[in-house]
Amino acid sequence: MSQNIFDDPFFFSSYQELREGANYNDLLEQPAMAALVPDLTGKSVLDIGCGYGRNCLAFSQKAASVTGIDISSRMLNVAMKENCGGNIRYLRMDMEELDRLDGEYDFIYSSLAFHYAENLDKLLSDCHRLLKKDGIILFSQEHPIATASINTDYRYVKDEEGNVFFKVADYQKEGIRHVRWFVDDVIHQHRTFSTIVNSLSEAGFIIEKCVEPCPGKKEIRKLPRLRNEIIKPSFIIFKARKGETQCL
Ligand SMILES: C[S@@+](CC[C@H](N)C(=O)[O-])C[C@H]1O[C@@H](n2cnc3c(N)ncnc32)[C@H](O)[C@@H]1O
Repeated sequence: MSQNIFDDPFFFSSYQELREGANYNDLLEQPAMAALVPDLTGKSVLDIGCGYGRNCLAFSQKAASVTGIDISSRMLNVAMKENCGGNIRYLRMDMEELDRLDGEYDFIYSSLAFHYAENLDKLLSDCHRLLKKDGIILFSQEHPIATASINTDYRYVKDEEGNVFFKVADYQKEGIRHVRWFVDDVIHQHRTFSTIVNSLSEAGFIIEKCVEPCPGKKEIRKLPRLRNEIIKPSFIIFKARKGETQCL
């Protein structure tokens, strides 16, 4: 059973507050994702971990139909209240159970949710099955360098001259990470870069683009902490096309 941390009341209100101010999503990750969205005119779209549904609403302006799924009823309540439309449906569903979903999609999108999935191989093979021929998957997740260290307290270090470094440990130890993010024990999954690439390829995807978003001066002026992204990226994005499933 997957963790549903966004339904924790304190976590939810803290996350809402975060998204209302200058934040990493709007200044860094969302623009990089938006630049990779294909033309959606007349297409069917699935958004996995759709949260507030803001992207579902944007996709619905051109797409024929949009399905947003999320495990959190608090997030979906906002989506249904603020970002609904005649061609959008929201479903409460765990992405680990995508085999329960019907339909065929031209485009699968997921912003900052895949690092919550325990079984990436199953998730990607479900996505492959749900996509039409030549369908596209576009997803972002926390960067493997950012998820690696088990002890989260010692990540940034300064030398005597004031230079800042990011300390990485445990990179090759894949699996659960217990992270403090507003509350203790938020569960993320750490996977190496090669595991993600090989999972995509073994599910039958052909990678078209991989992006590690980097802020410009304008974004750093709005949120100075983003300067740290030059030391190490927080997010990684993959865009891939459905190919044939490999016969091993
Ligand atoms: C960081 S938020 C991103 C929300 C949205 N994609 C956006 O860009 O604004 C991650 C979302 O993934 C959802 N999520 C986490 N684990 C999930 C799971 N196992 N199945 C479905 N959704 C999940 C959360 O409830 C949350 O809404």
